Amino acid sequence: MDRSTKLNRKKWDSPVSARSSLRLGQSRFLLCLLVLCLAAGCGRGMTSKQPPIHIFLDMDLQPKYNAQSSNQFFYNRMTMQLPVPGTVALGELREDTALYQGKDAAGEYLATSPLEATDMLLARGAGRYGIYCAPCHRASGDGQGILYTRGGVPTTSLHEERILTMPDGELFGVITNGLGLMSSYAYPLSVEDRWAIIAYVRQLQEGQ
Ligand code: HEC
Repeated sequence: MDRSTKLNRKKWDSPVSARSSLRLGQSRFLLCLLVLCLAAGCGRGMTSKQPPIHIFLDMDLQPKYNAQSSNQFFYNRMTMQLPVPGTVALGELREDTALYQGKDAAGEYLATSPLEATDMLLARGAGRYGIYCAPCHRASGDGQGILYTRGGVPTTSLHEERILTMPDGELFGVITNGLGLMSSYAYPLSVEDRWAIIAYVRQLQEGQ
């Protein structure tokens, strides 16, 4: 027996008690870990007047102004500044009433779309129709979509006489502003996409 084992023997007395004190050490360690975990959970879900301890800042604190907040930098104390009076942002002029409103200079609905129904426009329209219109009006356009079958909501068939003879500009208005139970699709669909859908709907109507 060399010196080191002799020392060990003295310290642990017997192999059995050595094992049990090892277990004790392990469970103490686990207890500490548990307490630490619980302590780390504080701050979330607990009310306190103190700000939470922020160990990892990530990008939570940034030197920036929030929208709608007040601001000491500008005379009018608003973070969100209005455009300079009489100016128009680049690309926001929208003078072309035919393209942007589906109306002529006199304010009447255009009979036909200002965009030529090229293959590319029709393909784009078919894709957008499939995403934004087909869920309710169905791929065929008969209006027997999800709202009608599940909720009994009457959904207009795009093959109705009234829609067949509706000016393209009015269709543009329906997509842009919504109508009755149908909401506006101006937000997800750009102006060009709306005209593309109309070109596709006309093709769909002719197909039946
Ligand atoms: C969430 C379901 C839903 C979606 C999606 C939807 N519609 Fe409709 N649509 C309706 C309902 C419901 C009506 C009937 C509205 C009413 O008369 O109150 C309607 C009516 C219409 C009408 C008839 C308007 C009129 O003058 O009576 C047209 C045209 C139309 N939708 C086109 C479209 C096009 C094009 C799209 C895709 C951009 C579209 N809809 C997407 C539910 C939908």
